[in-house]
Amino acid sequence: MALYALGDLHLHFQVQLKAPGQKDGVWKNHETVFRRYCSEMIRPDDTLVLVGDHSWGRNLSEAEQDLQYISDLPGRKILLRGNHDMFWDAKKTQALNERFSGKLFFLQNNYYAYGEYALVGTKGFTFEGPFMINRKRQVVGWDEKKKERSEKLIDRELERLRISFEAAANDGFTKFIMFLHYPPTNILERSSGFTKMAEEYGAEQVIYAHCHGKSRFHDSILGRRKGIEYSLVSGDFLRWKPMKVLP
Ligand SMILES: [Fe+2]
Ligand SMILES: [Fe+2]
Repeated sequence: MALYALGDLHLHFQVQLKAPGQKDGVWKNHETVFRRYCSEMIRPDDTLVLVGDHSWGRNLSEAEQDLQYISDLPGRKILLRGNHDMFWDAKKTQALNERFSGKLFFLQNNYYAYGEYALVGTKGFTFEGPFMINRKRQVVGWDEKKKERSEKLIDRELERLRISFEAAANDGFTKFIMFLHYPPTNILERSSGFTKMAEEYGAEQVIYAHCHGKSRFHDSILGRRKGIEYSLVSGDFLRWKPMKVLP
């Protein structure tokens, strides 16, 4: 039994990509590369957590083939919401779990057991600018309105994360792996409500995605901080090879 994670598949079996070049480099045939890794690495009793931004589909019918592709991958598939997952209304997670019962498991306001661990999580959020940068490439200011709006989104996501932790804690779990789609901190922060909650519940690992493109791979925490291991698992960062989270 093993636990794997990867995020930002951005599948588009039914949607035409707008920008040219979106399928170049590491993104070329990425769905084939990822599927090959999965078939080589993942056994039927393993778990794969997909850390958001699954599909470019704007609704469930446009995401159907993308979800079918995920469903056909080996192992138990747990999905986290990303900012691009328009097919997934957070309030309708229950309906998604019923519709894909036994095939896909949607993580939102709930948790999933993995041995003695509880897999908890939410989309998360972090203020990503726009920042005003001076000639020395230092941040000297930001859009105040956007910052205010982001604080509301962060509060809501922290509430959702706590619901996930509490559901697991109420069932007696004391060991946690925490998943976020957004990075736990932005480029200016050393800590956040998300890192504090991970510390509060004693999460062993925080796994996040969303940062793709080389320039963003170091936006947030990587490695060990305050006894917690932080990992970025966006697909292009991992070059589509799922990361082993637990044996
Ligand atoms: Fe993404
Ligand atoms: Fe994202």
